[in-house]
Amino acid sequence: MMRSVVCGFGAALPERAVTNDELRQLVDTTDSWIQQRTGIRQRYIAGPEETTASLGEKAARAALDNAGLAPADIDLIVVATSTPDNTFPATAVNIQNRLGMEHGFAFDMQAVCSGFVYALTTADNFIRAGRARRVLVIGAETFSRLLDWTDRTTCVLFGDGAGALVLEAKEESEAENRGIIAASLRSDGSHCQKLYVDGGVSTTGDIGHLRMEGREVFKHAVGMITDVIESAFAEAKIDIDQLDWLVPHQANRRIIEGSAKKLGIPMDKVVVTVDQHANTSAASIPLALATAAGDGRIKRGDMVMLEAMGGGFTWGAVLLRW
Ligand code: ACO
Repeated sequence: MMRSVVCGFGAALPERAVTNDELRQLVDTTDSWIQQRTGIRQRYIAGPEETTASLGEKAARAALDNAGLAPADIDLIVVATSTPDNTFPATAVNIQNRLGMEHGFAFDMQAVCSGFVYALTTADNFIRAGRARRVLVIGAETFSRLLDWTDRTTCVLFGDGAGALVLEAKEESEAENRGIIAASLRSDGSHCQKLYVDGGVSTTGDIGHLRMEGREVFKHAVGMITDVIESAFAEAKIDIDQLDWLVPHQANRRIIEGSAKKLGIPMDKVVVTVDQHANTSAASIPLALATAAGDGRIKRGDMVMLEAMGGGFTWGAVLLRW
């Protein structure tokens, strides 16, 4: 039986950080409103030369360096994104080309903010089935391009960025108990009007803007998140007390704290980067992982739970030993 073991991580952010105060030039808002309601202090916004694929490529190269691997060692690239460079080909193929790879295969995965947990679970399935040996799993987004910059209820919440992991197939006997242990994925399309983009290729023909019923999202978030986390622990037959780190999707500090409290996980075991990055959708979990593994908090062998919830609604959790 194969295990999918994390052997590298990396991240990339646009050059320009934008503070809450700077947003006051665009909409009627304040730093204190944004911080109190969301925990966000700043976000990074892509410049004209920065795209989902260019940020994804940077994160991928950083993850490969961290793993001590080259593009030639990779046989699959999965990119979680809702903000592709082009409608097609997939951003994953764009990144494959940027990395100079002509071998293997690459595709995108669209589950909005849950995209990274969906992508990781999919990559794990390819590894377990013996159809891939080393996989780049990338979450990359330029949500700034989907925002209505006149709508203060949404434009203050999001940012751009990318993060990546390299997964490697290891025989269970050689994995030292590391790797992906359990996953739980869910979706329920009856919530599709609560968080969506009001445009698209097959409808309006333009890209549209992000629209959200914030209170409705908030109302469902904690219950959905804690449900999949409990399912993943149950599948793994692992007790929640054995958890070293919860690495949540970074949408909102209040959702993160509410979920941790409901599960009885102390906040000193929770990685929070929403203050620095805001909500970067599918990129937020790998960005948070790269931050906490990069500064030495998450160590080899640590038990880590990843979770996310987003448009659809989609939601999911992945339990792994780092
Ligand atoms: N600055 C100042 N005032 C604002 C702003 C702003 N940026 N945005 C809204 N307001 C005002 C509203 O107009 C409203 O004013 P009113 O009472 O005069 O009508 C007031 O603030 C309160 O608005 P609410 O929407 O009730 O504020 P709430 O406390 O619910 O906070 C928020 C809004 C932060 C969006 C919250 O509902 C939330 O966190 N929801 C979850 C949404 C989320 O995180 N989505 C991310 C994508 S989904 C995901 O990734 C999980």
